[in-house]
Amino acid sequence: MSFRLQPAAPARPNRCQLFGPGSRPALFEKMAASAADVINLDLEDSVAPDDKSSARANIIRAIGDVDWGTKTLSVRINGLDTPWWYRDVVDLLEQAGERLDQIMIPKVGCAGDLYAVDALVTAIEAAKGRAKRIDFEVIIESAAGIAHVEEIASASPRLVAMSLGAADFAASMGMQTTGIGGTQEDYYMLHEGQKHWSDPWHWAQTAIVAACRTHGVLPVDGPFGDFSDDDGFRAQARRSATLGMVGKWAIHPKQIALANEVFTPSDDAVREAREILAAMEQAKANGEGATVYKGRLVDIASIKQAEVIVRQSEMIAG
Ligand code: COA
Ligand code: MG
Repeated sequence: MSFRLQPAAPARPNRCQLFGPGSRPALFEKMAASAADVINLDLEDSVAPDDKSSARANIIRAIGDVDWGTKTLSVRINGLDTPWWYRDVVDLLEQAGERLDQIMIPKVGCAGDLYAVDALVTAIEAAKGRAKRIDFEVIIESAAGIAHVEEIASASPRLVAMSLGAADFAASMGMQTTGIGGTQEDYYMLHEGQKHWSDPWHWAQTAIVAACRTHGVLPVDGPFGDFSDDDGFRAQARRSATLGMVGKWAIHPKQIALANEVFTPSDDAVREAREILAAMEQAKANGEGATVYKGRLVDIASIKQAEVIVRQSEMIAG
């Protein structure tokens, strides 16, 4: 056991990150009025190359003009392998108002990617006398990103969240699928002639959760492309929540309620967690480190497990 305490991730609701293209400003008011905790205005892959500069102007205007309420407001810039990203950063930091909370950097492959953006952002913040420090979030969506996930998670004190981007990740890994998240037809085990589907995203998710939890960063599940498949979204989101992720993207407004439902601990889960804490209080009063709750062992580790659920529920309620 390390003597270093695991840093806490930011205590803010991050159950749903709603995306919308910067080239569709008609969506911005609807996004602001939605029930998503985080809004991601996109300059990257949902915006065609010819629209990059008008999308940038739309977003800069909307950051100041639209009432974003208490939402976390984020803009996804273009990747460092494009000719657009530096202008995204410069224009946002020089022209957008202080309402902007964070910048999402896509396709990060190494800690140096964050260092480069950090250097630029730090200089502009100082030059412009910006009062609020801009946070970063990143997308792990390449072989290099997942191979270097731990150094990326510790690369910048600005980093608050990290998402898995299933589509680019699958492409970079050479995976034989065009699905964006969810069950993959050909990823199955055979047992007595029966197919049992496994989860090809699992190891990347757990690697992201471990890197994030080590460094106090929020781990988030990215997009689920088939927005007509509610049950498929729920199943994917429940697996992510079980693994320790705190939320999921919505690429269509109908996915917002689904994400909020899955990533808000249920009343039953909170009640059970509180009962476990009460059972352990009783055990402590009796001088015991372990006791029985509903026929199963609970001990001092169970307190920490139960506290994860209770804390998450209280933070969301607050
Ligand atoms: N945010 C808020 N509202 C949205 C929205 C979004 N991302 N996408 C659609 N809507 C609104 C529509 O304007 C429409 O509103 P109305 O009922 O007032 O007319 C309603 O939701 C239904 O929309 P629908 O017709 O089903 O969708 P669409 O064909 O207009 O757009 C997509 C579908 C997928 C192209 C669009 O949702 C989208 O661009 N999503 C985000 C893509 C993105 O940002 N990708 C990058 C991250 S992977
Ligand atoms: Mg991507």
